[in-house]
Amino acid sequence: MMPLPELTVRPGVVGDAEALGRLEHERQGTPVRELVERFSTGLPAARNDRLLLVAIVKDEVVGWGQVVHFQPPPEAPANHAPEGWYLSSLLIAQNRRRLGIGATLIQERLAWVSTRASEAYYFANSRNWASIALHKRFAFEELSRDFWFPDVTFPGGGQGVLFRTALP
Ligand SMILES: CC(C)(COP(=O)(O)OP(=O)(O)OC[C@H]1O[C@@H](n2cnc3c(N)ncnc32)[C@H](O)[C@@H]1OP(=O)(O)O)[C@@H](O)C(=O)NCCC(=O)NCCS
Repeated sequence: MMPLPELTVRPGVVGDAEALGRLEHERQGTPVRELVERFSTGLPAARNDRLLLVAIVKDEVVGWGQVVHFQPPPEAPANHAPEGWYLSSLLIAQNRRRLGIGATLIQERLAWVSTRASEAYYFANSRNWASIALHKRFAFEELSRDFWFPDVTFPGGGQGVLFRTALP
């Protein structure tokens, strides 16, 4: 798979909030305004415990993905997900899929995590075979289907699956 030659990836900035809100509206159906507001308050992305990357093709935001650090709170149940860096929120515009953009966003985020830790995590709905196939390319291996992560549920009848990959 050859990534698009005109693809660039960079940390998100406040000016991306509108485009990210519209993109995320495709997935969630939540009103665009609400999503734009959420992105506006969450950006700029440069924070020690989080990285938000946007993928750009010809000046258009066509995808995004985050890394977040998770520290289980003291009151977390025994089956809580491990402390560490989690790839989350990966989304590629529908008309830009299967062009290697998702893979590029994973690669860039793993490179960022690898300067901070020797492993990275992510979780997916067991029915999201596209995401699971994509992450498998980066040696993510299933850890558990019985884990707790705050505010995360897996609707649609699937199970949550927690994965980990070792980093160089
Ligand atoms: C999953 C998603 C991020 C993939 O992004 P993408 O840019 O299309 O993925 P890539 O082009 O980088 O795919 C790389 C490889 O992953 C696998 N893959 C990606 N999408 C796939 C699909 N729909 N079906 C099967 N395999 C798929 C393939 O092996 C693919 O290589 P190939 O195209 O050479 O066969 C995208 O479909 C998406 O945004 N889905 C909705 C949101 C979502 O599910 N996010 C993940 C939440 S955990």
